[in-house]
Amino acid sequence: MGEKIVAWRDSNGKLSVMSDLCPHRGVALSVGEVNGDCIQCPFHGFEYDTSGDCKLIPANGRDAKPPKAMHVKTYLTREEHGFIYLWWGEPQQEYPPVAWFESVGENMVYTTLRDHWKCHYSRAIENQLDVVHLPFIHHNTIGRGNRTLINGPVTTEESKGKGDHLLNVWVYNVLDNGQKPTKPSDMPEPTRRPFLQFHFPNLWHNWIARHSYHPGVHPN
Ligand code: FES
Repeated sequence: MGEKIVAWRDSNGKLSVMSDLCPHRGVALSVGEVNGDCIQCPFHGFEYDTSGDCKLIPANGRDAKPPKAMHVKTYLTREEHGFIYLWWGEPQQEYPPVAWFESVGENMVYTTLRDHWKCHYSRAIENQLDVVHLPFIHHNTIGRGNRTLINGPVTTEESKGKGDHLLNVWVYNVLDNGQKPTKPSDMPEPTRRPFLQFHFPNLWHNWIARHSYHPGVHPN
């Protein structure tokens, strides 16, 4: 989001994620040090606790109370699934539970890929749901086989509680032999696992088939 942040833990392991900017003279706190329960700015040694409050201005002596204005902006966070999440939206008391996929277990390994699309996020989501473009844009990978005729697709929705909403999408693209496409309402109930799961508002799980695709054959 274009903002520099610093993440650190106090002596009890309490996490703090804050703006990487000392409110005194603007030095990056990330090049400072963690000193007990505070992060210490490297320039004049001001110390800030996990809530961003200044606890010590060394030049004024240990007895002096730092002014309230000496406060670093901190972020609401939640640690879950091995990640640290920051809340960027409207102010909240507590970070709500993070949507996840039950299929992604403890053994998950991951890497990071950044791919910035210059479009509204709803266009990106729409694109993930658009199975018609597969044989054209992705003709030599996930859309290979010239399967331009679209049966279905089949979609189902699941709600697992407030704010936890899931959309399953099954893709049934086939070769066009002159037959009519099957309407979504006439499609049989899917028995294999979904190709795509969209966890509102912004998580995707793409189930990769074990076997490579063959024209007209649905992978299991
Ligand atoms: S700039 Fe951080 S203490 Fe002065």
